[in-house]
Amino acid sequence: MFQSKIAGIGHYVPETVVTNDELSNFMDTSDEWIQERTGIKERRFGSRFKETTTTMGAAAAKIAIKKAGITAQEVDFIIFATLSGDYYFPGCGVLVQRELGITEQEVGALDIRNQCSGFLYGISVADQFIKTGMYKNILLIGAEMHSMGLDLTTRGRDVSVIFGDGAGAVILQPTQEEGKGILTTKLHSNGMYAEKLALLNPGSHGGYHLNKMGIEQDLGYSDAKYGDVFVSQKMLDDGHLYPNMEGKFVFKMAVKKFPEVIMEALATAKLTPADIDVLVPHQANLRISQFIQKILKLRDDQVVNNIQKYGNTTAASVPIALSEAVESGQVKSGDLVCLAAFGSGFTWGSALIRW
Ligand code: UT7
Repeated sequence: MFQSKIAGIGHYVPETVVTNDELSNFMDTSDEWIQERTGIKERRFGSRFKETTTTMGAAAAKIAIKKAGITAQEVDFIIFATLSGDYYFPGCGVLVQRELGITEQEVGALDIRNQCSGFLYGISVADQFIKTGMYKNILLIGAEMHSMGLDLTTRGRDVSVIFGDGAGAVILQPTQEEGKGILTTKLHSNGMYAEKLALLNPGSHGGYHLNKMGIEQDLGYSDAKYGDVFVSQKMLDDGHLYPNMEGKFVFKMAVKKFPEVIMEALATAKLTPADIDVLVPHQANLRISQFIQKILKLRDDQVVNNIQKYGNTTAASVPIALSEAVESGQVKSGDLVCLAAFGSGFTWGSALIRW
């Protein structure tokens, strides 16, 4: 069995900065409310006519490929994690293959729909493929173009002030270096809470799950209202083509599951929180990261937080934060790096990497 390592990492964020004050031009919100509850000061929004989730992913991928010292042609498998794909289908995996100009190789491309924990799921999948010797240069991307799908009115303010656009990418390779690379990954989910943070339409559910769970009234849904249509003007008018989130419930689950899944990974690797050099949590809310930091008794300089600049970039948040931490020297060779994420599904996961 081989061990896998991150051989190259890169990130890309769009140029346009959108401050909290700018958001208050579209909706009833304030810089004070957003900073106090989330820590976010600004986020980036991609350019609608020039950028997509795929192009941002490709930009991050090019950096990761260069840093790994390989060419795009040497990538032998692609994994793309996003909830905001360019198309409903096909996924961004094949689109990024085309964008990178490597269609001739006809390598496999896999799309991951695990939202905030998508990158963690991707790392774990890549790790298994590399351990067994199946692939040698896996390109894993987490990217999001949230700004195209947010309700930027007061109706959607609880969700839309949190999210931003961006992309991060890594190249995973086998390593012979004893004790280095990915030590363990842990993945979990609980579908009981699928609708607590979700974009339900367009979809093929026809109200089925909502009725079964008895929640159609809460969300203002009913079969009579939407029938069996995939998408309608009424859904748009009612704001049901935008994500919905029960923020407080998600918050409570997150602060429980983050420490749990980190401790689980540490136990497998026979390590303790005191062994962690750097924690890179999914950038969901600065208050969540601070809570985990306290539980694990980590110093400020051991926790990577960039949500202030980018907001929550979902599948892109962990690779962007890790890429910045590597670039700034916060993550150094030999460090024990812990990655963790929690989000919609609910799905969550962790990874321990000896850098
Ligand atoms: O990455 C995926 C995982 N996601 C998360 O981890 C998110 C977890 N949840 C959260 O981060 C927090 O729940 C939020 C930041 C989303 C919301 O904070 P909260 O403290 O839970 O606020 P709330 O939703 O309970 O709303 C409190 C008040 C409400 O007003 P009333 O009913 O008290 O009068 C909201 O209408 O704040 C109001 N509100 C806002 N006010 C100004 C909600 N959104 C906004 C807003 N600006 N953007």
